[in-house]
Amino acid sequence: MEQDETSLPAKAVKESQSEMVEMVLPNDTNPLGALLGGRLMHWIDLAGALAAHRHSRSYVVTASIDHLDFLVPVHVGDVVIFKSSVNRVFHTSMEIGVKVWVESYTTGDRRHVSSAYLTFVAVDRHGRKRPVPQVIAESDEEKRRYDDAARRRDFQRAERQRRMDAKKA
Ligand SMILES: CC(C)(COP(=O)(O)OP(=O)(O)OC[C@H]1O[C@@H](n2cnc3c(N)ncnc32)[C@H](O)[C@@H]1OP(=O)(O)O)[C@@H](O)C(=O)NCCC(=O)NCCS
Repeated sequence: MEQDETSLPAKAVKESQSEMVEMVLPNDTNPLGALLGGRLMHWIDLAGALAAHRHSRSYVVTASIDHLDFLVPVHVGDVVIFKSSVNRVFHTSMEIGVKVWVESYTTGDRRHVSSAYLTFVAVDRHGRKRPVPQVIAESDEEKRRYDDAARRRDFQRAERQRRMDAKKA
């Protein structure tokens, strides 16, 4: 019988919550010493994949990244902290939330830089999609993210459909 996500033991959100830290070096910045947006997106993708790998214990591919706002500038020498967690699992896909802070290492002050939602799809070594264990949302915050993830998925699916229809027209 083919395995589905209901036959895999569910895991708590905290089991795969991840943190990644990067120091901004000159090669990460523009000529004014400000962090390149593309580099931040790359790190967000990696931080998200970390939680997705840990939850699914599988290879994963990035299916989508939602829009990104860059709320405060980040400069060469700054420390950037990425926290990622699984918001919700569907079947072969999971929504991961990544929140980014910049920390001043002289004062320890942290400022919120960006938040993103990414969808990863679990695949085997041949690239075939595979089911992902369900996630157990325990805290009120985790439950809110779990509920919101379903609304985002519905919205994104409707948007994808609309774009596909527009291409055909
Ligand atoms: C993502 C990918 C595996 C989906 O494959 P597919 O055959 O189109 O998948 P399906 O339509 O059967 O959907 C499979 C799952 O992916 C989800 N999915 C597919 N496209 C998606 C998208 N654009 N955004 C979010 N989720 C998506 C579906 O909702 C479904 O989730 P579920 O199983 O949890 O219900 C495939 O499009 C792919 O390999 N893309 C390239 C990924 C990649 O290379 N990423 C790196 C970027 S360079």
